[in-house]
Amino acid sequence: MKPHSLRHQPRRLRRQAAMRALLRETHLHPSDFLLPIFLVEGEAIRSEIASMPGVFRHSIDSALRLCSDAVDRGIPGVLLFGVLDAQAKDAVGSASWASEGLVQRASRTIKERFPNLLVIADACFCEYTDHGHCGVLDAHGDRDDNATLENLQQQALSYAEAGVDVIAPSGMVDGMVLAIREALDAARHENVAVLSYAIKYASAFYGPFRDAADSAPSFGDRRAYQMDSANRREAFRELDLDLGEGADMVMVKPAMAYLDLIRDVRERCDFPVFAYQVSGEYSMLRAAAQAGYLDLQNSVLESLLAIKRAGADGIITYSAVEVCDWLR
Ligand code: PBG
Ligand code: ZN
Repeated sequence: MKPHSLRHQPRRLRRQAAMRALLRETHLHPSDFLLPIFLVEGEAIRSEIASMPGVFRHSIDSALRLCSDAVDRGIPGVLLFGVLDAQAKDAVGSASWASEGLVQRASRTIKERFPNLLVIADACFCEYTDHGHCGVLDAHGDRDDNATLENLQQQALSYAEAGVDVIAPSGMVDGMVLAIREALDAARHENVAVLSYAIKYASAFYGPFRDAADSAPSFGDRRAYQMDSANRREAFRELDLDLGEGADMVMVKPAMAYLDLIRDVRERCDFPVFAYQVSGEYSMLRAAAQAGYLDLQNSVLESLLAIKRAGADGIITYSAVEVCDWLR
């Protein structure tokens, strides 16, 4: 018998590490990542979130140290979330647009210390309302979108005044991008960009975040405003609407269970596309690694590579700092 002879033998290009490096199509780089930060009031607070091992709630001084870690590694920006005590919340989430609010103070302090680090503020109300929904409720417990949009304008303005570079509305309120853009422009904040959570699904993978941010709805769920996981074409309508309203960048969220949408959105528009590897994605990889079922580093890197390969220009991930250390 003659030895097997194939004209094309894909293995020839996989044999040496150097060949694999030469031919690798997708690369992860520190500049791909944005780091979410959970902020709390107080001083010298760095308390681990039970459902997100390795992720902490930080008082502003501690958040500065985390920002410094991010800057040292070449991470271009942070995404700020304020976490409030129950007594600081009310029915409309007014603490979210206070000029001396938590995110506002954090933003000023971060921009002062690290002027080149991008500060992105998540714009929503669920962390600030006593009922945990993403906006103002009407008498039936339904979200009142018009009232919510007015508050969102105040919130966006107070963030812009605090030096925030990018406003990232995450409440899936119809018209949110236009409302924010108009408010910013009217106040001469034309340079503040809008990153819209345009394609955000009602997902079980937000579970640990709601723990971390104490933002779980006290009744019902978010299915009346976030997207149904079964839908793809609807995502294109959301995309077109938000771009039409003036979004500078768009986001698909969650990431790993929606890689098809990341690819679709990448192909349908020429605007920057971000993907959010959400809390549940982070925690399931951690938990499996802690149980000894998965190798943490390899599984996290593979998940991020998949998100980038699908077409994301940037990835929001709780693993950002650690991943940069692994990449070195
Ligand atoms: C607020 C918001 C949420 C997340 C980002 N912004 C939670 C939600 O919609 O319930 C989720 C982030 C994560 O799970 O890591 N609207
Ligand atoms: Zn919300």
